[in-house]
Amino acid sequence: MQKRTLGRSEIEIAPLVFGGNVFGWTVDERQSFELLDRFVERGFNAIDTADIYSNWAPGNNGGESESVVGNWLAKRGRRDDVVLMTKVGMWDKRKGLSAANIRAAVEDSLRRLRTDYLDVYFAHIDDTEVPLEETLEAFSKLVQDGKVRTLGASNYNGERLRQALTISQEHQFARYEVVQPEYNLYDRQEYETGLAEVAEQNEVGVVTYFSLASGFLSGKYRSKDDIADTARAGMLQKYFTPRGGQIMEALHELSGELNATPAQLALAWLIGSPGVTAPIASATRIAQLEEIMDAADLTLPDEARRQLTEASAYETSST
Ligand SMILES: NC(=O)c1ccc[n+]([C@@H]2O[C@H](COP(=O)([O-])OP(=O)(O)OC[C@H]3O[C@@H](n4cnc5c(N)ncnc54)[C@H](OP(=O)(O)O)[C@@H]3O)[C@@H](O)[C@H]2O)c1
Repeated sequence: MQKRTLGRSEIEIAPLVFGGNVFGWTVDERQSFELLDRFVERGFNAIDTADIYSNWAPGNNGGESESVVGNWLAKRGRRDDVVLMTKVGMWDKRKGLSAANIRAAVEDSLRRLRTDYLDVYFAHIDDTEVPLEETLEAFSKLVQDGKVRTLGASNYNGERLRQALTISQEHQFARYEVVQPEYNLYDRQEYETGLAEVAEQNEVGVVTYFSLASGFLSGKYRSKDDIADTARAGMLQKYFTPRGGQIMEALHELSGELNATPAQLALAWLIGSPGVTAPIASATRIAQLEEIMDAADLTLPDEARRQLTEASAYETSST
């Protein structure tokens, strides 16, 4: 499988990243191990998690996902085969991007992940209360110390990414080599009208989250009634709009023509989008995982790409 380089770093990833927010939430540890084993067996290598995952699940506090990944890594060995991404800043217990918090949070994450380095350490939020200089200096020190190979920024807009890149250059700090925005066929506007251009101009890698719109783009939910009993009901609500219906109609239509499932087409659309390094997506069962991994072998014909882009077009707001 052709790997892709993350920004200007030396890190190479396969074109689908496993999303770790399901570990300890909708997937228990045993099943998580099976999913991760199968993922790497098929040649994929990158895993995304965060200190806060999955604190929203009943009975959880946060830290569960990193612990599952850490236990899997300890059992499997060969740490260097895997590209490990985690994040700091969103969890109440280790909130924000102050230097002191970053220093403390990285030690906690390393301990839970049972490793002595992270491949990518993300700012999970844009913390506007802390000067970017302070945050970037603290992150940069972690790179110097060998605790982190590369830095990333999640939920930053284009302007703030530009500022951060300028500050890194002025102070000779390590720079953000990768961004992690919400981006999928439904949620396009924010990324496409801001961050995408700045990332591309500066050769910053892009790994997208909610790449399947929390499962909506798989087509398994026909109406809001179908989501009532799911763990993701709160996240899925917003997709049941006329535009959501239009996107699903286009996916179903192409699905027959191209012999690929809606989930595969939705991921292939991202994988082939200029500027996108890889989508992040999760799966809760092996069959789901096999299905989404097959998207990496699918190249969308230009006409199919055009149809999906058109069916998911959004009205540009003037604000
Ligand atoms: N940076 C951030 O702020 C941020 C925010 C959110 C997420 N993320 C990252 O992005 C990752 C991806 O987000 P996500 O996992 O929440 O959402 P997602 O990738 O959009 O959706 C994944 C979910 O869709 C369902 N699914 C997957 N494959 C399927 C298939 N073939 N058929 C039917 N259903 C299928 C599964 O859920 P069910 O089986 O439960 O239906 C799966 O857990 C996260 O794990 C996390 O690493 C980052």
